[in-house]
Amino acid sequence: MSCNPCLFLFSFLSFGLARNLVSGQNSTLLFPKDNNVRNCSCSTEIKSCEYSLANLMCNCKSQYPSRISYTGDLVVWFTNTSILGQLLNFTLVQDLKLSLCGALPLPTDYLAIIGLRRLEVHTANSTEQRLIIYNHDMKPMDKTSQHPREKTSLFHISYLDTSLFNGQSLKAYSVEDVSSINEQFPNLPYPNAFSVTNTSYVVTLIY
Ligand SMILES: *[C@@H]1O[C@H](CO)[C@@H](O)[C@H](O)[C@H]1NC(C)=O
Ligand SMILES: *[C@@H]1O[C@H](CO)[C@@H](O)[C@H](O)[C@H]1NC(C)=O
Ligand SMILES: *[C@@H]1O[C@H](CO)[C@@H](O)[C@H](O)[C@H]1NC(C)=O
Ligand SMILES: *[C@@H]1O[C@H](CO)[C@@H](O)[C@H](O)[C@H]1NC(C)=O
Ligand SMILES: *[C@@H]1O[C@H](CO)[C@@H](O)[C@H](O)[C@H]1NC(C)=O
Ligand SMILES: *[C@@H]1O[C@H](CO)[C@@H](O)[C@H](O)[C@H]1NC(C)=O
Repeated sequence: MSCNPCLFLFSFLSFGLARNLVSGQNSTLLFPKDNNVRNCSCSTEIKSCEYSLANLMCNCKSQYPSRISYTGDLVVWFTNTSILGQLLNFTLVQDLKLSLCGALPLPTDYLAIIGLRRLEVHTANSTEQRLIIYNHDMKPMDKTSQHPREKTSLFHISYLDTSLFNGQSLKAYSVEDVSSINEQFPNLPYPNAFSVTNTSYVVTLIY
């Protein structure tokens, strides 16, 4: 990927940090099943891609995939980039674990995730890799700042290059103070809803 627009590089990277999956709450597990998605609430971590174990151990229901926002841990088992985009593109998720259950290699595509704080990726033939994007509680769209010189709002958007599942080590960088995603990152998809005036974004590229 070209790095020309990355004028302000900030690295918030941190590898190998322990992740607390069980924070008292059940995690949500999504995986494709027939033409629907299984949406499960699990109190324990289920080994990646063990569908029947998930059906047995978790509280699951089938539903038509709908993209929204998630407050707790979200685990997604996916087989190809189109189902991944269907389940996750432009959703609001802070803590995410992605497991590839299909065949490699995956093509390059971009998946936009809003507010992503911690990411864990798992592919069939590699170990788990973890990435912390930020570690504090960041309030999206905080327009109540006391200090006019500070950003009037902050919106964290991460772009995952789906080819990262092909076996390389996970890398990321963040660019702060992005006022216009489509001008500064013309190759990245962005929703029209993001064209809010006087908003500054933190854009993180994960590849
Ligand atoms: C939490 O997960 C367990 C199974 O792992 C399930 O029995 C229970 O209903 C779930 N709780 C909620 C609130 O969904
Ligand atoms: C999964 O179920 C939860 C709880 O019922 C719901 O909030 C969420 O929207 C569902 N997710 C999907 C992708 O349907
Ligand atoms: C992607 O995976 C879904 C769910 O397993 C499947 O229904 C769909 O046909 C697959 N699409 C492609 C292009 O392979
Ligand atoms: C996410 O949505 C954008 C914009 O619609 C699209 O260009 C991109 O291919 C999608 N990514 C995936 C993984 O589906
Ligand atoms: C995983 O498998 C793919 C293809 O099967 C291979 O190209 C890649 O090097 C493997 N990655 C690791 C870390 O072994
Ligand atoms: C954007 O900021 C400028 C300068 O601070 C201000 O004059 C303008 O009213 C703001 N626009 C909106 C829509 O808040």
